[in-house]
Amino acid sequence: MLRSALLAASRSPQVRTVVEKFPPTQAIVKRFVAGETLQQGIDATAELVASGRRVTLDHLGEDTADAAQAAGTAEAYEHLLAALEETGLAANAEVSVKLSAVGQFLPADGEKIALENARRICEAAAAAGTTVTLDMEDHTTTDSTLEIARELRADFPWLGVVLQAYLRRTEADCRDLAHAGSRVRLCKGAYKEPESVAFQGKEQVDLAYVRALKVLMGGEGYPMIASHDPRMVRIAGQLAEWNKRDADSFEYQMLYGIRPEEQLRLAEEGNTMRVYLPYGQEWYGYFMRRLAERPANLTFFLRAMATR
Ligand code: FDA
Repeated sequence: MLRSALLAASRSPQVRTVVEKFPPTQAIVKRFVAGETLQQGIDATAELVASGRRVTLDHLGEDTADAAQAAGTAEAYEHLLAALEETGLAANAEVSVKLSAVGQFLPADGEKIALENARRICEAAAAAGTTVTLDMEDHTTTDSTLEIARELRADFPWLGVVLQAYLRRTEADCRDLAHAGSRVRLCKGAYKEPESVAFQGKEQVDLAYVRALKVLMGGEGYPMIASHDPRMVRIAGQLAEWNKRDADSFEYQMLYGIRPEEQLRLAEEGNTMRVYLPYGQEWYGYFMRRLAERPANLTFFLRAMATR
């Protein structure tokens, strides 16, 4: 129930105003978000790369309301990619993009606008010598996101896409995408979804994650194991052994600020470990989804509120 309430709050403008104005919020947000500026994103990336980890940067934003804002987000990614190239970080850092931030939900021609903006970002990534992965939002966007990814892959075959294990369709999507050259980031899923389309309990979602992982690790593509769950990490390691995968044929991914010691351990053992690093002013939706995932994160937040 708490998770549902927090996920509902993540889309409420009223709650957003209260949370954003609350002074201790900033301190807590810092645990999950690199900062509000491009420079802060670049500095945090440099630090992570120096410690042996790779990075995927997310210029925060979602549910963009007009075409100019969507184009502005694409431009922000172009600046980010140019900065990654200039600082020599592009070899170890790529970008993650939410299609809703580049126009997918706009009423007129939303998908076309999102495709054009995502294409601009892919062109900038190609010029910088790095890659792009498309995030996945709620289930109403899955078909559209996969179709946009398919179109872009014709020109940018390295484009990655996220699949969410909690969706009932995902095992089949994994089979479609487990081909050579295909980069798939498998996560559990962070949105509130109806039972008709998504498994609900943790046990069911975990089992679905393992089924999807088996398909990806047994396939020809490049799986990106996006989970903090020690069980999922362990199973991925076993599947890599069983499928005789080299360490450079898959990677582990975790969110910035979550289980940093485990991130370092995996990197030190010779695995590719990539950190999903968000930065920017639009941190509210991202932050609320992190609170919804883990009661301990919420307790931390409420304790800070109570001590004011
Ligand atoms: P889960 O939340 O079930 O946690 C399982 C276990 O992991 C816990 O019991 C604990 O042991 C450990 N753990 C988890 N959080 C911890 C913490 N804060 N501190 C210590 N231990 C912790 N979602 C989505 O819908 N679309 C997307 O595009 C993405 N993209 C994405 C990229 C990357 C790189 C990651 C890592 C995640 C996403 N997600 C996402 C979010 C994802 O769907 C999911 O909500 C979170 O990763 C949480 O799920 P876990 O797999 O970590 O397990």
